[in-house]
Amino acid sequence: MSDLLSADFYAGNRKRLRSLFQGTAPIVITAAGSLQQGSDYAYSFHQDGSFLYLTGLNNAELVLVIDRDREYLILPERSHVSDVFDGSYEAESFAKISGISEVLDYKVGWKKLATRLKRSKHVATLAPPAPYVDVLNLYTNPARAVLMEKIKTLNPDIEPLDLRQHLAVMRMIKQPAELAAIQKAVDTTVKTFQEIQKKLPKLRYEYEVEALLGYGFRRRGADGHAYSPIVGVGQNACTLHYEENNDPLTENQLLLIDAGAQVNRYAADITRTFAIGQPTKRQRQVYDAVLEVHEFALTNLKAGISIRDNEKTVEQFMGEKLRSLGLIRNVEREEIRKYYPHATSHFLGLDVHDGGDYDKPLESGVVLTVEPGIYIPEEGIGIRIEDDVLITATGIDVLSAKLPTVL
Ligand code: GLY
Ligand code: MN
Ligand code: MN
Repeated sequence: MSDLLSADFYAGNRKRLRSLFQGTAPIVITAAGSLQQGSDYAYSFHQDGSFLYLTGLNNAELVLVIDRDREYLILPERSHVSDVFDGSYEAESFAKISGISEVLDYKVGWKKLATRLKRSKHVATLAPPAPYVDVLNLYTNPARAVLMEKIKTLNPDIEPLDLRQHLAVMRMIKQPAELAAIQKAVDTTVKTFQEIQKKLPKLRYEYEVEALLGYGFRRRGADGHAYSPIVGVGQNACTLHYEENNDPLTENQLLLIDAGAQVNRYAADITRTFAIGQPTKRQRQVYDAVLEVHEFALTNLKAGISIRDNEKTVEQFMGEKLRSLGLIRNVEREEIRKYYPHATSHFLGLDVHDGGDYDKPLESGVVLTVEPGIYIPEEGIGIRIEDDVLITATGIDVLSAKLPTVL
């Protein structure tokens, strides 16, 4: 990791959380848990974004306690096997990174916290998600639910107070150090895309592009990918989260590359669509439509409007374009979403789809993506143009503007 964020940054975030949360209940927040991939090994660890924001620590199952002016970390119970295979937990280094001087081992820490919780009516924490998200078909990290169960075992009458809205509001407005990390991730991604574009005539497979993305990000000092890169030629680009990246790069097809470097866990998220050889007239026609929608969405964005409101305006404009392309008859949501099935913007930060309030008017310091696309599987065409944008006091700053959008 590069070193853009200091212990003062994390201490400042904890201090702001304390001032936003007016209650006297202890604040107890857990790190994410490590998740099983195969019989005796785990997926690459992915820290809970809010825990990271408050501590800078990238280890599983730590617990942060903020109790009025006191704060401490509780270490998990670690097995010898975990220490040997995954590295041991160093209290001293955790204290240095986070600025939390009191780092307690499991028994001492939980004894202290249990005494406090048994006398508390409330505990402030991040509410656990449902174990399964139906609309996405995915299981969620169980760490927050496990923490809550443990707290309830200690004091069955305790009532949780949810801190998620406070963290969402805090994380929405990026501080200068965060903006520096995001800009570095964006610049790294832009340079790597430019390098790949130059090499494109010599590349033969989607996976060659994928390899060059990872190499370019690491060589330029990033941690690696912020998310699995999407490198999809022709119809593959119509699968929005296509990750196989195996197919040959066929002449006269379009190639969609959606990738982002990660710096200090801050993400870039950029998409460009390139032509392999000469684009056909139809490909260019659809590309120009996406580009017009992209420019329209950027023109609308400013402090004071919400992502939700912008989405409605963009949807209408996209509808007009889809009708001109002969894809739909009526500019109606149901028809539009057949060819434009995703949102125009999401917040960007520690998580590539960062938390935030889609109904809240945008403010200076918010970073979000603008990423319209048109997907026509029956024609083998999938096009998206995605930029990363900072809302400023006077308008917007397109952080990825150095990467051209010409086909
Ligand atoms: N890379 C995923 C997205 O654009 O949201
Ligand atoms: Mn993307
Ligand atoms: Mn995106």
